[in-house]
Amino acid sequence: MTNIPIVDLTIHHQPRDMRDRIALGFTKVLRWCADTFFAKRYGHRAIVLETVAAVPGMVGATITHLRCLRRMCGDQGWIRTLMEEAENERMHLMTFIEIAKPTLFERMVILGVQWVFYLAFFTLYLVSPRTAHRIVGYFEEEAVISYTHYLREIDEGRSANVPAPAIAKHYWQLPDDATLRDVVLVVRADEAHHRDVNHGFASELAGHAPAAVMAPYPVHAEQLQPETVKLAA
Ligand SMILES: [Fe+2]
Ligand SMILES: [Fe+2]
Repeated sequence: MTNIPIVDLTIHHQPRDMRDRIALGFTKVLRWCADTFFAKRYGHRAIVLETVAAVPGMVGATITHLRCLRRMCGDQGWIRTLMEEAENERMHLMTFIEIAKPTLFERMVILGVQWVFYLAFFTLYLVSPRTAHRIVGYFEEEAVISYTHYLREIDEGRSANVPAPAIAKHYWQLPDDATLRDVVLVVRADEAHHRDVNHGFASELAGHAPAAVMAPYPVHAEQLQPETVKLAA
């Protein structure tokens, strides 16, 4: 695969103030919880965590949209960027659901976590959008690390490098013979892009210049496959 953007794995936003340190500390606690709960079950880990990852973009878009209506001002493209991020994370979920099947317990965890995380993140975004975007930036740093570990599992033969699901081949415009390894590479590139976008938004809100270089975004299909937009029964 030659059209998958290269990801710089060394990028880490150094905390500059107390809010950044809180965001990083919170992220590290959640990372420890995920490592403890999932260990090396990367397919299951991806499913549960992508149900969480798809929340912040929609919350940020909603609150930014409402604020722009109240203040009658422009959004500088933030709303579409955040809505696209939410859709992209949902496509990660729809892809990994073809790779692994969540257990009943994991489905229950998803239900509980969504309520808690949505309400908590919504409240945080109202109080401090800057901290909210910084947390997402750190979440995405961890996502890049997790998908790098997943790649190693595939390369070392502990996870089967199965054919890529049709939904993934359509969404990332992958060739017919694409495999799970190719899918993980493009998903990781998506996460690296989200990392830079969210750290950039947080820096902008803090009055700092965002980093000049942003991880390139992979190509995505303009239209989702019909079956991907059908509501589950
Ligand atoms: Fe994701
Ligand atoms: Fe992401």
